[in-house]
Amino acid sequence: MELVKLSGSIVYDKTTMLLIKNFNIFVCFRMLLMQPKQIIEVFKTKNGREVTIRVPDIGDVEGLINFINELVDEGAPILTNERQTYSSEIRYLADEIQKILDGKLIALVAVADNKIVAHAEIRKWSGRASHVGTLGIAVLKEFRNLGIGKELIRLLIELARS
Ligand SMILES: CC(C)(COP(=O)(O)OP(=O)(O)OC[C@H]1O[C@@H](n2cnc3c(N)ncnc32)[C@H](O)[C@@H]1OP(=O)(O)O)[C@@H](O)C(=O)NCCC(=O)NCCS
Repeated sequence: MELVKLSGSIVYDKTTMLLIKNFNIFVCFRMLLMQPKQIIEVFKTKNGREVTIRVPDIGDVEGLINFINELVDEGAPILTNERQTYSSEIRYLADEIQKILDGKLIALVAVADNKIVAHAEIRKWSGRASHVGTLGIAVLKEFRNLGIGKELIRLLIELARS
């Protein structure tokens, strides 16, 4: 993956570019196809909690409803401010999984103690803009500042490169 241009609010750390607000990544995509439920990595957070990072699966619908609704209740700066229902979430997730299988999306969830605590994705654009992707990320409040967001972004970029 070649990073050509970044736009939006961008936060850097010294070694890795951490992109933590809405932005678009302009990339050359050579996406490795991922499989639902595929474990990408198990890692320990700064405070020693074990977190599994994996590809979402259709069985994650309940976990993702709880995840998104916790962010909505908090008023987190995500793309929706409406609580999700089973029917809206299953439609979203089925579409997300199809896009993963089609190589149009890289999506990851972070799971701690069987709970989805973070979600991150790079959504590939289409047509002449198919070298462009949009990154979205959210971590539950209780799990922020533990390095999960940074690790998810590092993995997304690595997966987009491969
Ligand atoms: C933004 C967000 C994804 C960061 O995830 P996180 O797991 O808390 O981030 P990390 O713990 O990996 O932090 C990585 C670095 O970014 C810094 N950082 C984290 N949140 C930051 C913020 N809001 N502003 C500035 N720096 C921030 C951390 O201090 C850390 O720096 P360090 O590596 O020098 O110690 C998380 O706070 C979140 O989900 N917020 C609500 C939703 C949101 O804003 N999503 C993005 C817009 S769609």
